[in-house]
Amino acid sequence: MNARNRPVELAPPSNAADMRAFSTVEHDTWRRLFARLGPCRESQAHPLFTQGLGVLGIDGAAIPNLDAVNQRLFAATGWRGVVVAGLEDGPSFFAMLARREFPIGNFIRDARDLSYTPEPDVFHDLYGHLPLLVDARYAAFCEEFGVVASRHTDDPAQLRQFERLFWFGVEFPLVETEAGRRIFGGGILSSFGESNYALSDEPEVRPFDIEAIRHQEFRIDEMQPRLFVLDRPETLFGCLGAFEAGLR
Ligand SMILES: [Fe+2]
Repeated sequence: MNARNRPVELAPPSNAADMRAFSTVEHDTWRRLFARLGPCRESQAHPLFTQGLGVLGIDGAAIPNLDAVNQRLFAATGWRGVVVAGLEDGPSFFAMLARREFPIGNFIRDARDLSYTPEPDVFHDLYGHLPLLVDARYAAFCEEFGVVASRHTDDPAQLRQFERLFWFGVEFPLVETEAGRRIFGGGILSSFGESNYALSDEPEVRPFDIEAIRHQEFRIDEMQPRLFVLDRPETLFGCLGAFEAGLR
């Protein structure tokens, strides 16, 4: 269903009330994570990310109220964050994207190790992913991603290719801008260590290439030794047709 024949909804249906009541320590963990990333955002993140943070009212004061964030996000692009109990598998994850729903982990990482989270937590999902979804073109791309990938979830090899495209195109892409190379993915944006590493000389950075990406394995438990850099955001937004046509 596209934007034209989708029924108009005045407010985002929400399960945000399912989000647990976070403790003082947990809110403090958010504060520390946000504060650590704050000084480097201007020089590291693509401007659409920092703009999105502002539009959504996400700040370092405390773990945001998801209902309040959703009101703003829904008004911008019809997307919303949806609280999930655990990690979504590929088919259900892509089905959520097709409904303009982004899963939000219902916990925050342990205060004793800010750099490690066993699964996507509220900081990764809400801080890392929701701000870019304020942009209409990025939001349309992610919805299309869900729709297209959902056509291929019965084929494990094809599903795996979409998981790789999501990894290197949504979680871990870099992008060139007039001001220099910037981070354009939630997996990097939500990690202090990964942000500094991705823009250092350490990883191998290749031009964004869907044929390379569909065959590129990745591990989730280490810094990414190989990253792909977009020449501009539009290259990502327009890649799904050719990616689907090249499935085998
Ligand atoms: Fe993510």
